[in-house]
Amino acid sequence: MGFVDIERARFGYGTEPAIVDGVDWTIGEGAFHCLVGRSGCGKTTLLKLAAGLLAPTAGAVRIGGAAVRAPRPDVGFVFQAPTLLEWRSVLDNVLLPMALRGRPGPQDRARALELLDLVGLSAYADRGPRALSGGQQSRVAIARALVTRPALLLLDEPFAALDAITREELQDDLLRLCARHGTTVLFVTHDIAEAIYLGDRVAVMAAGRLSHTLTVDLPRPRPPDLRYDPRFNDLCRALRHAMDGEGA
Ligand SMILES: Nc1ncnc2c1ncn2[C@@H]1O[C@H](COP(=O)(O)OP(=O)(O)OP(=O)(O)O)[C@@H](O)[C@H]1O
Ligand SMILES: [Mg+2]
Repeated sequence: MGFVDIERARFGYGTEPAIVDGVDWTIGEGAFHCLVGRSGCGKTTLLKLAAGLLAPTAGAVRIGGAAVRAPRPDVGFVFQAPTLLEWRSVLDNVLLPMALRGRPGPQDRARALELLDLVGLSAYADRGPRALSGGQQSRVAIARALVTRPALLLLDEPFAALDAITREELQDDLLRLCARHGTTVLFVTHDIAEAIYLGDRVAVMAAGRLSHTLTVDLPRPRPPDLRYDPRFNDLCRALRHAMDGEGA
C-alpha cells in the first residue's frame, strides 16, 4: 500500500467512454510522480479525483489508507493559473489557507515569510500581486500551497505559462521545498523534460487510462547539469516514444 492509492478509479459525466477509465496508481510516501498526456486525455479530472473535488463513479482513491470523500486539509493544490487575490498582499495571499481556518498566528507568519524567502520573494511580502511578474505569482502560489505543510501536493501544469529559464528555476525551487518536508507530489505537465527532471516515476495517460509508466533512475538532488546528460535525454526519448504509443 502506498500513501496515495488509486484503484480502478473511474469517472465520467454520463457519456461513454468514461473520462477516467479504470486507473490504478500507487504513490509511495515522499515520492514525486508526474502525469503526462495529450490535451483532453483526463489528467485534470484524475487530479480532481485525488483532491476529493470529484468522486469516482467506480473504484477508489485513498490517501494514507482513508477513502477520499472531500477535499482534505493535508492536501495542497496548485492550479495552472496562480489565482492570487488582488486585494491581499503577497504575504496575506500565502497566509490565505490559515486565514480560512481562523486568524493566522505569529508562527504562521514566520512560516509564510520563510517560504517567501525560499522562493526569493521576501522583499515583495507587503506588495500586491499585481506588482509581480507571472513567474513571481507562480512562486507565491507554490508558497501558499506549502504553507500548511501538506502531506500531499497536487499540481496541474503550474509552470505552463512561463519562459524556459524561469520554469527551470521554479522546478528546482519546488524540488527543494518538497524534499525538505518529504512532501508526496503528483505533478501534471505537458512537458516531457519537466516530467523527467522532476519525477521518480512518470505515468502516461491516454484516453482516460494509464498507458505506460516509466521509472526515472536519476540522482537526487538533481545535479545542475543533468538536463545535458545523455541518460536524461535517453529517458526523454523513451517517454516521447511511450506518448506516441511506440512502447517505453
Ligand atoms: N464538466 C465537464 N462536463 C463534461 N465533460 C467534461 C467536463 N470537464 C471536462 N470534460 C471533458 O473531459 C475530458 C478530459 O478533460 P480534462 O480536463 O481532464 O483533460 P486534460 O487531460 O486535463 O486536458 P488539458 O491537457 O487540455 O488540460 C475532455 O474531453 C473534456 O472535454
Ligand atoms: Mg488539464
